[in-house]
Amino acid sequence: MSKFTKPEKIVVNDLVLKPIPVSQDYAQQIYDAFHEDEPSFRFWMENGIYKTVQEVLNAYKTKYTDEENWEYAMYGIFNKDELLGEIGLSGIDIKNNTAEIGYWLKKSARSKGIIDRLIPVIEKLGFDTFNLRKITIWCDTENIASRKHAEKNGYVLEGVQRERKLWPDGSIHSTAMFGKLKTEWKKG
Ligand SMILES: CC(C)(COP(=O)(O)OP(=O)(O)OC[C@H]1O[C@@H](n2cnc3c(N)ncnc32)[C@H](O)[C@@H]1OP(=O)(O)O)[C@@H](O)C(=O)NCCC(=O)NCCS
Repeated sequence: MSKFTKPEKIVVNDLVLKPIPVSQDYAQQIYDAFHEDEPSFRFWMENGIYKTVQEVLNAYKTKYTDEENWEYAMYGIFNKDELLGEIGLSGIDIKNNTAEIGYWLKKSARSKGIIDRLIPVIEKLGFDTFNLRKITIWCDTENIASRKHAEKNGYVLEGVQRERKLWPDGSIHSTAMFGKLKTEWKKG
């Protein structure tokens, strides 16, 4: 895959996907969202969630502003100016034409079908715009909400890596690996 220009923003009815501005205000919002529901965010950051707002700022600096960094095509999910969460592709492998979908939502934005609406949008970005061959969703076997998204959106369970992760709290976790090939993708 050659390097494509990442779309600046993607509008999906009332939702806008666009980079999260690297600012104290948005870093605080991300920090607050993660700390409001720490247990569920361990699935997103298994090595421990951000301890300070500055840590958020440092992490998001490279994620959204480094044009040369092709590992990420992540977007903030906005409703007007309200940041609801984040979705996009990470681990973009331009040699093998593969990437992984990742997402999170703050608590008040959950159970509204937002991720199910946006997965097809991110698939279009991956399969169409970036011409990926395969998109994966890897999730902790205990992350039921995420597993359900993979299953509902037609991802094939390719296997479970047993006892793959040792979390800082000493617990051991297995990872379910789901995948969808471009040949299996139905354009919306
Ligand atoms: C993953 C995440 C975005 C899902 O939020 P959401 O898209 O609003 O999903 P929902 O809360 O509607 O849950 C999806 C489904 O799982 C079900 N579900 C969620 N938690 C569940 C649980 N503990 N037990 C049983 N079912 C559960 C919901 O009932 C829903 O079922 P339905 O589709 O049949 O209605 C959100 O939980 C989150 O941000 N988690 C932290 C980050 C994360 O884990 N990211 C993914 C990493 S792989």
